[in-house]
Formats: sequence, structure tokens, C-alpha cells
Amino acid sequence: MKLIFLGPPGAGKGTLAARAVDILKQQGSLSPHISTGAIFRGAIAAQSPLGLKVKAIIDAGKLVDDETTIALVKERLSQEDVQNGYILDGFPRTIPQAEALAEFQAVDKVVNFDIPDSTVLERLGGRRVCRKCGHNFHIVFDKPKKEGVCDHCGGEVYTRDDDKAEAIQKRLEVYRRQTAPLIQYYRGKGLLIDVDASPAVEQVVDNFKKALEL
Ligand code: AP5
Repeated sequence: MKLIFLGPPGAGKGTLAARAVDILKQQGSLSPHISTGAIFRGAIAAQSPLGLKVKAIIDAGKLVDDETTIALVKERLSQEDVQNGYILDGFPRTIPQAEALAEFQAVDKVVNFDIPDSTVLERLGGRRVCRKCGHNFHIVFDKPKKEGVCDHCGGEVYTRDDDKAEAIQKRLEVYRRQTAPLIQYYRGKGLLIDVDASPAVEQVVDNFKKALEL
């Protein structure tokens, strides 16, 4: 299944994607999780030319330019492992990105994470991430067993630079201005499915399964 996860920063897209990959696998659909944010963070950690180019932009909560992001996704979606399905998390984020995607891919559904700002702020403010495997934790809802250490791989658990207060505000503002118009764009194409993303993770997983009739 070819899915887009669309929603504000901190809505829980990455958390649900990790679960959805397993759910879809049980249904016989191999759908790797492709997060443009994670690809950029990997490039920053590796200090590659892409990482050096995007670090300041991401830390400030702004969007990387469309040309760079579209080229990156086009290349990733040409690879063998995603020919039968994928979960695209964090792309597209602008109308030009959506139009470019439509030129080289037909997606099955767009999952819209429906969530109030207050919940988003609570989730982003408490998020911690494993530097090694990228697993998301939360200081209230999903704490690592040992503080600062990932339960899954033993990596260091840290606060993302773009989870600082000013960057969070900027990301929400950018979301409203540049990304939220995609809701109407995909609704108009009959592809949008709304999922209530505000309850606890297990309930969101259930909402997702019901919405997609899985
Ligand atoms: P990206 O990594 O995509 O960031 P984002 O969209 O801002 O999304 P987040 O990763 O912040 O949140 P999420 O929805 O995945 O929530 P999560 O599951 O972590 O992008 C980062 C940056 O890269 C962008 O700002 C931009 O600069 C650049 N970029 C990326 N794509 C781009 C593009 N297409 N174009 C241009 N630039 C691009 O959950 C959040 C927290 O809540 C966690 O702590 C989690 O444990 C907790 N949580 C999750 N679900 C629940 C729940 N149901 N109940 C309680 N807690 C929960």
C-alpha cells in the first residue's frame, strides 16, 4: 500500500508509522517507512554535503527547499524495496511537492492526523529521540527504562534541536501556512482519510486500522 502521512509536527506520524509497517506486513504488504526528516537528520549526523546544507534550516524550524526535497524523494522512491508500497512521512509538505509527486507516483491514501495544537505542543515539548536508531520516546507518555538510554539499541536519547521552543512555534506556523493546504488538495482528489490522532498510541493505532479497514 502506498500511503502518505500528513499532519502537524509532533502529531505522532513517526510513532504510528513504526507500528503501521508491522500491521501492513501482517497483511502481506511490505511498506517501508520513509521519513524525509529522518533522512535529513541522518545526513546531518554524517556531515554529508546535504547535511551541511540543511542543518541550519531544520534547526530553525523552516522547510528545506522543494527542489532538494523532491529530488531526494524521487531517488528514494525509485529503489527496489518500495515498488509495492511505502509510508511517506513528512512528504509532501507543500503544494509544489505534491504536484511533483503526482508526476511520478500514484498513492493509494493520504492519512490526515487530526489533532489540536495543545496536544502537539505537549508531545513535542516532551519528545526524546534515540540518536542511533531514531526511536521516539516521551518524558511522560513513553519514557526509556533507563534515562538517556534507548531501550531498543542502547543508543543515546537526546532532544532534537528543532524541539526547542522557538523552533516548535516556527514549525507550527510553517505547517499552517505551507502544509495544511494539502488537506483540501488531497480531499479534493478523494484520497484523504482523517484519523483522530489525539488519544493514546494504542487507540490511534486502532483508529488507523479502522480508517483503512485493516
Ligand atoms: P520531520 O522529522 O518530518 O518533523 P515533523 O513533521 O515536524 O514531525 P515530527 O517528527 O516532529 O513529529 P511526528 O508527527 O513524527 O511525531 P512523533 O511520532 O515523533 O521533519 C523535520 C524537519 O525536516 C522539518 O521541520 C523540515 O525542516 C525538514 N523537512 C522534512 N520533510 C520536509 C519536506 N517534505 N520539505 C521540506 N522540509 C522538510 O511524536 C511526537 C512525540 O509524541 C514523541 O515523543 C512520541 O513519543 C509522542 N507520541 C506520539 N504519539 C503519541 C500518542 N498517541 N500519545 C502520546 N504521545 C504520543
